[in-house]
Amino acid sequence: MTGRFITIEGGEGAGKSTAQTFLADQLAARGVSVLQTREPGGTPLAEAIRRNLLSVEEEAPVEMAELLLVFAARAQHLAKVIEPALARGQWVLCDRFTDATYAYQGAGRGLSEELIAKLEALVQGETRPDSVILLDMPPEIGLARARARGALDRFEQEAQPFFERVRQGYLTQAAQFPERYSVIDATQDLTDVQTSLEAVMTSWWSDA
Ligand SMILES: Nc1ncnc2c1ncn2[C@@H]1O[C@H](COP(=O)(O)OP(=O)(O)OP(=O)(O)O)[C@@H](O)[C@H]1O
Ligand SMILES: [Mg+2]
Repeated sequence: MTGRFITIEGGEGAGKSTAQTFLADQLAARGVSVLQTREPGGTPLAEAIRRNLLSVEEEAPVEMAELLLVFAARAQHLAKVIEPALARGQWVLCDRFTDATYAYQGAGRGLSEELIAKLEALVQGETRPDSVILLDMPPEIGLARARARGALDRFEQEAQPFFERVRQGYLTQAAQFPERYSVIDATQDLTDVQTSLEAVMTSWWSDA
């Protein structure tokens, strides 16, 4: 009895946290035991790495250091939280995972996909999400939401072309792995996003 590993991806302010809460509520109503977590983060050490990665006050990591820190946090998170939960039969809902690394450190920063794939294999072995939900929208819409919320983190302070590359990086991943990806138009009203999420969930029951 292994749980299902579901990740929620997308740019800043795309509605990832809102979608995660909705999915968790729907799954719980069906009697599924759900663990909600996020990346980078999910354990005390990984959350400390997250604070460094997002900080605008600390020394900014060079690109390679950023990539390795993301995977260091992921190794800890997988071993301490994600793998034990799946082994217990819990479903794991994770706000961002390795597809975000391909999008941000790969497409965004320009690090090679081959390098990321090597680290993915090294850190994760065979573990991959069973389902990836991509909340897709033009970055300016999500950034406006993020700006309305207050101070911007180190990623949110990037220039527009960075976010365009991130979006295209995600869409490239989705095209490469259509069996695992569900792409949702995140510009829709919340109720329509939720209807789309319900349709994705229906496919999980028929798989089970
Ligand atoms: N479909 C929607 N239409 C309009 N507003 C939305 C929609 N979904 C979420 N929001 C609102 O947009 C804001 C950002 O949503 P949310 O925090 O879920 O995004 P996020 O992707 O988790 O953001 P972040 O990247 O900062 O973690 C929130 O104020 C939320 O209530
Ligand atoms: Mg969020």
